[in-house]
Amino acid sequence: MQDKYFEFLVPTRVVFQPGGAAQAGDVAARVGIRRPFLIADRILAQVGLVDRVSGTLNIVGSFLDVPSDGDLATCEKIAQQMKGADADGIVAVGGGSVIDSAKGANIVFTHGGRLADHQGVGVLQGKLAPFLVIPTTAGTGSEVTRVAALKDLEQHRKLFFESEYLAADLALLDPEMTSSMPPKLTAATGMDAMTHAVESILASNASPLTDSLAVYAMQMIYAWLPKAVQNGRDLEARGHMLFASTAAGAAFSNAGVGVVHACAHALGALKNVHHGVANSIMLPFGVSFNWNESQPLLPPDSVQRLANLAKECSLPQRLREVGIRESDLEALAEYAAGDGALIYNRREATQDDLLELFRNAY
Ligand SMILES: [Fe+2]
Repeated sequence: MQDKYFEFLVPTRVVFQPGGAAQAGDVAARVGIRRPFLIADRILAQVGLVDRVSGTLNIVGSFLDVPSDGDLATCEKIAQQMKGADADGIVAVGGGSVIDSAKGANIVFTHGGRLADHQGVGVLQGKLAPFLVIPTTAGTGSEVTRVAALKDLEQHRKLFFESEYLAADLALLDPEMTSSMPPKLTAATGMDAMTHAVESILASNASPLTDSLAVYAMQMIYAWLPKAVQNGRDLEARGHMLFASTAAGAAFSNAGVGVVHACAHALGALKNVHHGVANSIMLPFGVSFNWNESQPLLPPDSVQRLANLAKECSLPQRLREVGIRESDLEALAEYAAGDGALIYNRREATQDDLLELFRNAY
């Protein structure tokens, strides 16, 4: 019986519409954007995805130089350009970095000041400018989450922003917008979504609602990720992966994540390992660490199945394959031990536990 208090919130309206990006102008108007500012990155512009959207929008300006890892300075620059263009809302086209950078830019655009001053949980005092997101990857879940993770390049640290005001007003899911993603990125972002699903099932804040979404996402990813990796033009597979990513995002933004994300954050911050790749390597070891015989929602052979899925998607299985040396493991464990993701890990993980996890995955 569910006897534990819980709350569940997804402030974002989710619209699934194959080919919908070509009508982004109408969708932007639905959330009150009359003078849209477009945010994307160069790669997306090169493969024509930005044109597909901007052709239908009367954009007043754009920023197409979001780096692969969003940072504070870029967000402040975007906010300044938005003011200069007299924009009244944001259309973000991209993956996690673009979406998080758009969230950061929106904070400064709306509330002013330095972005770093707004970091933390529940710091934002009011609504932000209207914000439409069109994801081009399927994994981060950032299109429905209330968080943004952005790098402070001067202090070499990652800052976290969390507020219900940070959520997009509308997420437009169009499978065609993810179909030019290369196999490696498809695999890595897909395993990020899998990690969100599995970790939210194991998290201390899990509820029947997050479990429903997470179990659905997990089943879809097992079934469709290899197909999306194998043939990027398989729009059925792309569509299912978008649902799964969004479902897993809605789950973990309410349930929390855990030890696998703590390790992945350390690998990203100290050794620049891609977030999805880091999660994929650590996931079987993290599940094994958190394994609980009384957990009915995970298949009993989960540890092996997750490792097999990563292998089938041609992802690395060990930390040594992504440039980590044995001498790095202590520092990684120290960083992970201070990571906020551990708050929702049901089993307490000490620095020694984390070191053992990294050693097992090495
Ligand atoms: Fe993640």
